[in-house]
Order: sequence, then C-alpha cells, then structure tokens
Amino acid sequence: LSAGIIGAPFSKGQSRDGVESGPDRIRAAGLLDRLQLQGCAVKDYGNLTFEDFVLDEPVRGSKRVRAVGSANQRLSEAVQTVKRDGHTAVVLGGDHSLAIGSIHGHAAAAGPLSVVWVDAHADVNTPLTSYTGNLHGQPMSYLLYELRSKVPELPNFSWMKPCVSSRDLVYVGLRDVDPAEHYILKLLGVKVFSMSQVDQLGVARVMEETCDYLWERAKKPIHLSFDIDAIDPSVAPATGTPVVGGLSYREGLFITEQLCQTGLLSAVDLVEVNPLRGQTEGQVHSTVSTAVDILLGCFGRLREGNHLLDYSLP
Ligand code: ARG
Ligand code: MN
Ligand code: MN
Repeated sequence: LSAGIIGAPFSKGQSRDGVESGPDRIRAAGLLDRLQLQGCAVKDYGNLTFEDFVLDEPVRGSKRVRAVGSANQRLSEAVQTVKRDGHTAVVLGGDHSLAIGSIHGHAAAAGPLSVVWVDAHADVNTPLTSYTGNLHGQPMSYLLYELRSKVPELPNFSWMKPCVSSRDLVYVGLRDVDPAEHYILKLLGVKVFSMSQVDQLGVARVMEETCDYLWERAKKPIHLSFDIDAIDPSVAPATGTPVVGGLSYREGLFITEQLCQTGLLSAVDLVEVNPLRGQTEGQVHSTVSTAVDILLGCFGRLREGNHLLDYSLP
C-alpha cells in the first residue's frame, strides 16, 4: 500500500475564504507520519499552485469558471502522475470543484472507474441549474457521460471530457439536494443512499449494497470523493456548507474500512475542510482530525487494532 499525496489549496469553486488552507492543516495534524506508522509508504507531491485570473467574469451564472477549469487541468495531470508512479492518489482540498480534475486524471490513468461520493450534497448541478453559480456544487455534471449535452462549453474546460457512467456512481450521505439535482438523479437512475437510507438500512447494509451494485458489471478501481460535510456538523463543523443530520464519526470510518477492504480503492479526495469556518480552535481540531482519521481508514487502519509484524511473545 502506498499513498501519493497532492495538496490542492483551491477555493474558487465557492465563495468562502479558508478552504485553501485545508491541505496544510491536514498535513500539520500528522497525516503523513501516521500513515507511515501504520505501514503505508508515503510520497508527498506537495501543493499545486494555480493560475490567477484577473478577469474571470461569470459565464451563464457560473462563477470563476476560468480559474476552476485551469486548476482542474493541473490537478488532472498531477493525479495522472501519481497513478502512473503506482500510488493510491490522495487529493487534499480545497473545495469540491477539484473532483473534476481528480476523477478525470484518475480515469485517464486507470480507465473506467467506480465512484463513491460521500457528501451531504449531490454536487450534480449543471451551470444552467445552479442557484448559487458555485462550481463546487457542479462537478459531477461535468463528469457524467449522460449529462454531456446539458453542460455548455465553458472557457478553460476544453481539455476535459466526461469519463464516468451514471451506473458507476453511488452517493452516500445526501441530505441537501436541490430540486434540479433530484430530478437529474431520478432521470439517470443514480444509486443514492441518502441519510434516510442510512437510517433505514444501517451503514453496514449501505456499504454491502454499494459494493454489490458497483460490482454487478465489473470490478473497477474505486474513486472515493469524500466531502467532510457528509459528517455531522457536531463532529466536523469547520466547513463551508454544513448541514445538520449527517453521518456520525463511526459511520464515516466504517465507510472507509469497508472500501479499503475491497482492495480496489485507487484514489481518494478529502475536500471542504475550512479552518476559518470553525468557531473555536476545538471545532477546527475536531474537523481536521476527523479528516485525518477518514484518510487513515482508507489506508487500512482498523478500529479493532492492527499489527505489522508477527510478535514472538515473551
Ligand atoms: N447545492 C448547492 C450548490 O449548488 C450547495 C453545494 C455544496 N457543495 C459542496 N461541495 N459543499 O451550490
Ligand atoms: Mn457537501
Ligand atoms: Mn461536495
């Protein structure tokens, strides 16, 4: 097991300052050391830098499209490098518009993917359905083949093409879905485990059914795109768009334990940690350490305990 870490301190897919410091806060909480301590090889590819666009006027209501397009092109290339070097890619965000480049780069290097999207939000608005114009609420619409004709051409997006089939996508944790997004999910028949299904089935059945569903056709590399706002704001409050009634810490970890055990987890995004949105240092700490624990779970940490060596007991 080896992790290739990319920091993506990008915030222009939404309007709140602070989410660009996510990668460094997550590193400062000891992510790299702790991965190594649990037996995972780690290569840190550092933080990406992004081009500034002085003139980045809204395009059909969507904000800072040029910056988002350009940043995601860089990220896609970085993820391709990490995958070609043989690592499981870890993208530390930054806002969730980064999933465009992350998933695109992953698919470019690894072929067709299964995508598990853990989030309070579906992030499947098109530029024409979005109420907010924020690109972090839109990434899945750019990535799905089935929505290709619904997404207009945008500046700095000509490098990318859709690369995910709606049948290879599963959502977990949804509880704040816009009407047009709900229509899209129903129209395409996307598999959704909203918080209501988590309540009804329990997280264990949700993950069992997630894997069964994704493997019905073929076992493909899994891309986990984990928005920290999937976790309840009582645990992870330092994020731009918190929504009450989320996954517990335990449900969050269970999801990562199960996905890790498939042996197919090939890239992980951990996005929307915004230290400036915490009201106290304790709130920031709780959010960041939850993010770290989610990532450790993706790389084999088990709550039952782990051991690397055979101990000859004295
Ligand atoms: N649905 C809303 C929008 O389109 C909120 C999206 C929140 N997304 C996120 N990645 N936190 O703007
Ligand atoms: Mn979200
Ligand atoms: Mn999101």
